[in-house]
Amino acid sequence: MYRAKISGVGHYVPEHIVTNFELEKIIETSDEWIQERTGIKERRWIDDKDNNVDLAERASRRAIENAGLEVQDIDFIIFATLSPEHYLPGTGCLLQEKLDLAGIGALDIRNQCSGFVYGLSIADQFIKTGVYKNILLVGSEVQSRGLNLTTEGRDIAVIFGDGAGAAVVSRTNEDNKGILTTHMHADGRYAKELWQELPGSCRKPMLTHEIVDELGIYPYMNGRHVFKHAVTRFPEVIEEAIESAGIEKSEIDLVIPHQANQRITDAVRMKLGLTEEQVYSNIAKYGNTTAASIPIALSEAIEEGKIKDGSLVCLASFGSGFTWASALVRF
Ligand code: ACO
Repeated sequence: MYRAKISGVGHYVPEHIVTNFELEKIIETSDEWIQERTGIKERRWIDDKDNNVDLAERASRRAIENAGLEVQDIDFIIFATLSPEHYLPGTGCLLQEKLDLAGIGALDIRNQCSGFVYGLSIADQFIKTGVYKNILLVGSEVQSRGLNLTTEGRDIAVIFGDGAGAAVVSRTNEDNKGILTTHMHADGRYAKELWQELPGSCRKPMLTHEIVDELGIYPYMNGRHVFKHAVTRFPEVIEEAIESAGIEKSEIDLVIPHQANQRITDAVRMKLGLTEEQVYSNIAKYGNTTAASIPIALSEAIEEGKIKDGSLVCLASFGSGFTWASALVRF
């Protein structure tokens, strides 16, 4: 068996900043409401000339460079998104074309906010078993083009933002370094509490003018339900990783949770008895970027010197599905 480590991380966020005050001009909301309930001050929205794959490509090139590798060293792509450019094919294939990597496998995964941690677990298995040497794992989202910017959709519209983060997962011989443990969970009984029902093959025909006009094709969130489950599942899956790796909670240098909502992060931090310094947060700047939130946060934490050689980092997620996951990584 080989070992897998995160050899490089990078991120890209669109330049266009949308503050809460700007949202106030579009929908019935307020900076005060948004900050109090979510901790978000601003988010990024993609420029008209770009698409999901453009964000992903920029983040990927930075991650590959930070890994000290050439693009041609990548031998597999895992692409996590809930906002694919098309119904088919997967956006991973579009990224592969952009990177001029024709021929290598490109796997799209659909695990929403847990996409990056699920992807890390998949990459870990392929590296450990010797199948691949350098896997490009990307979380990239364009939420802004799918938001219901009316009073009806405001609970969701104020939370989500655009951006991309990427990591290269590589084979390593270094002892006591790399991915120590990963854990994935789901509970489909709650699928409808945080979902986008349409468009989908559940309708015959799949899409009509009536569907668009009467029902809309927007996400739905039962906010209170999501909150209740998130504050239970996050600590549970973090504790699971700690126990599985046989370490003490105090040994963890940094927890990087999926940036769902500052209130969720604070509740999780308090349940685990961690300090503010031990739990990374950048949601105030970017909002919730679902599959991209963990790699963006990881990339910024490295840039800010919060993760150094030898740091023990716990990644944890909770999201639509419901899905939840964790990973312990020694840098
Ligand atoms: N601006 C102003 N008012 C709003 C907005 C908004 N953007 N959105 C909803 N409201 C209104 C509602 O219409 C409702 O009005 P009403 O009382 O007249 O009916 C009222 O605010 C609800 O307010 P609260 O009672 O404070 O609602 P609640 O405490 O349930 O908070 C919230 C709502 C913030 C969504 C909360 O349930 C929550 O934090 N849930 C977690 C959901 C979340 O953060 N998900 C993250 C994305 S999913 C993921 O990543 C896992």
